[in-house]
Amino acid sequence: MKNFIRLILFIMIIMCWGGIEISAQTSLSVSVDGKAVNYENSEVPYISSSGNPVVPLVSTMKALGADISYSEETKAITVKKDSNSIIIPLGKQYIKVEDKYLILSEPTVSVNGRTMVDIIPIVYSLRKAITFNIIEKNVSIENIPTFELLNFVDKVPEWAENPTFDDQKDKGTVVEESVDKNVVKKKEKTDLSGKKLVALTYDDGPNGKSTSIILDVLKENKVKATFFVLGTNVYNNKEQAIRTVSEGHEVANHSYSHKDLTKLGVSGINKEIQETQKAIKDVTGVTPTLLRVPYGAFNQNVKSNAGLPIIQWNIDTLDWKTRSADKTVNSVLNNVKDGDIVLMHNIHMSTAEATKILVPELIKRGYTLVTVSELAEAKGVQLKNGTVYNSFK
Ligand code: NI
Repeated sequence: MKNFIRLILFIMIIMCWGGIEISAQTSLSVSVDGKAVNYENSEVPYISSSGNPVVPLVSTMKALGADISYSEETKAITVKKDSNSIIIPLGKQYIKVEDKYLILSEPTVSVNGRTMVDIIPIVYSLRKAITFNIIEKNVSIENIPTFELLNFVDKVPEWAENPTFDDQKDKGTVVEESVDKNVVKKKEKTDLSGKKLVALTYDDGPNGKSTSIILDVLKENKVKATFFVLGTNVYNNKEQAIRTVSEGHEVANHSYSHKDLTKLGVSGINKEIQETQKAIKDVTGVTPTLLRVPYGAFNQNVKSNAGLPIIQWNIDTLDWKTRSADKTVNSVLNNVKDGDIVLMHNIHMSTAEATKILVPELIKRGYTLVTVSELAEAKGVQLKNGTVYNSFK
């Protein structure tokens, strides 16, 4: 009897939760062991605007022969298959696998009252095989054991705990009509009014040791910075990219391979920028909203095709040139004012050393260290794509 009540409750929650309407979708077919999964009319698998297959969880897992249960207390669905068990919290962008977490590319959403999930990491976490053919628009799941190396993390980043659903608005694949406000909470913002603000920015990473030291210093001092990363380095240093986001820093676009964008045509500019957007989204789940052009070099063509606000700086530490921690520190402390953007690079040990001195000293002088987006917002600036910003006064 108790089980029956739980089942009814589970079905009700699955039916009632949320309510996103699909207006037009990129249709997607899903099969398990070669047989098409039977979905109800209200269940429509789709390819998200960032190119991930998103499918109805319950029907797909049933077709795979998995056990599904729902906990009202934790608002999460547990899926068990063979000896593997995963927990999928509703409205979040991660799943729990034993005592670790796996960040999803898409938040778990409700469409037409059905729980929709980013299916690839879920199937891999159950140690089953899945292939996705984006050209033929099909997902094929197979009940055979596989062992994919998955990027588990120990801690859920704040953004994955409270994901935003802006992706659904992209390209008109899915229109978000009303997301259950109990499920999707807005990020709380700290009041920065009247404070002296500075945005430290680090370019060209992520990169091994120096990035780790910089992140350690920022964490110890409980401050945030902005990292303008290269697409290639994001793929080569995935863990650090994930760590940067999970510790609340802003990760932004610094092109894919550090080419001078003024020397490229429109397609070259788009490629450098879009491939980096994709790399960052793929690895960290976050879509960057800022661009810093390599060498600070832009022209009208770059501005017209940037598709993002272009962030320069007004304090250039020349850290790449001097490779001196002292000179880097002094170039900031001798010039710093409220609203400044400081340029540094997270590929030099001297800059990591400078950060150890600079951060506590700025705090001592009454500065609050924020990300570039926080700085712009605090100063009441609405960032516009293709516009160049040097500081926010
Ligand atoms: Ni650079």
